[in-house]
Order: sequence, then C-alpha cells, then structure tokens
Amino acid sequence: MSRVIAIDGTFASGKGTLGKRVAAHYGFKYLDTGKLYRATAYAMMKAEQDLSDPDAAAKAAAGLDAGALNDPALKSGDVGAAASKIAVHTPVRAALLKFQRNFAKIKPGAVLDGRDIGTVICPEADVKLYVDARPNVRAQRRFKELSGYGEDTSVEIVLAQLIERDSRDKSRAQAPLKAADDAHLLDTSDLDIDGATAAAIAIIDAVLGR
Ligand code: C5P
Repeated sequence: MSRVIAIDGTFASGKGTLGKRVAAHYGFKYLDTGKLYRATAYAMMKAEQDLSDPDAAAKAAAGLDAGALNDPALKSGDVGAAASKIAVHTPVRAALLKFQRNFAKIKPGAVLDGRDIGTVICPEADVKLYVDARPNVRAQRRFKELSGYGEDTSVEIVLAQLIERDSRDKSRAQAPLKAADDAHLLDTSDLDIDGATAAAIAIIDAVLGR
C-alpha cells in the first residue's frame, strides 16, 4: 500500500523544508510541485514569451524535462513571482496534473507540497496538512533565504511580494490556494524547523495510527 501526504500552504510558510523532513522520516519520496510551475515560467522567461499567454505557457509546461527542475535559477524571487502568474492558466495546470498524480503513486509513499495538493491533485491523500505563518515571520524567513542566494532585496520588498503572491494564489479561479476541508492546520509562526517537523509528524502519526 502506498501512502500520500499532501502539504499545502502559503508562500514561505516552511512547507518545503517540512515536506523534505517528513519524507525522510517516513522513507517516502518528496516532490516540491512549485518547481514545476517555476520551471515552466523560467522556460518562458528565457524564450522571452508572454506569461499571460495560456497556450504558450501550456506548451512550456508540457515540454519540461526532469533536468529543468534542478536549475538553481528557479529559486529566485522573480521566477517565483512569474510562476504564480502562469499558474493561473487552466491548460498549464492540466499539463502538470498527470506527472504529479503519477508521483503520488510511488511506493511506499509520497509527500507532495504545493498549493492544491489536498484539494485537486490528491483529494484522497491519507494525511493533509495546511501550513501557514504570520506574514512578517514569513517575510523574514524568505528574506534570509534569498539573501543566502545573493539576491539583493529587503524584508519590506519580500513582505510586499508575499502579500501580492498569496492574494493571486488564493483568488485565482482554478485550484486556488485554500485548506482542504479535512486538512490539519499547522501554524509555524512560533516554531523552528525542528518544532514544526515534530508537530507535523505527531499529526501524521495520529492520523495513520502509528
Ligand atoms: O511554492 P513555490 O513558491 O515554489 O510556488 C511558486 C508558485 O507556483 C506559487 O506561488 C503558485 O502560484 C504556483 N503553484 C501552484 N500550485 C502548486 C505549486 C505551486 O499554483 N501546487
């Protein structure tokens, strides 16, 4: 039997690090689905295509190869913002659906993190987590991360980008960011990564009866 753990949440809520740690704990495979949207946007940026063109975006999504997902350029704030612009297009989401659903079938289990995993990609997931934190805490975290990549930014800029990104992700017509009705909410504002991981594992163990 294969298990699926769905982790959704806001920008810089800590879901990526949490996803990796949870996957390592249970011996499951991990997929950061944001990379699919980032790689699609980055391919379009390199080709100087219009991000608001759904057909061009869908072609870019369908043409992704595994290597494109590991490009360090995907981590930048600009690519993240572009990713949320192409993520509004229904044909883009459709082009990326199968890859994600297939990944979720991997044995003995898979952890996927994103925005619509518990609601659209894996509505039957064994455990769903919805991760969030106060905006100023998330802005500080993301600022540290971007500075580590050498990006010239500030906490104020990151906070403004974060508010814009969350609002675009939550308000889009197709697969908006929201907690599934059966998701367990995890607020990481006052938790470090060890604390957040322990809290997530406690929820998952309880649901899986371990
Ligand atoms: O998580 P990350 O910041 O890498 O995601 C970049 C963008 O990709 C998000 O802001 C969102 O618009 C989009 N995304 C999505 N659905 C997912 C994962 C990411 O729409 N499952």
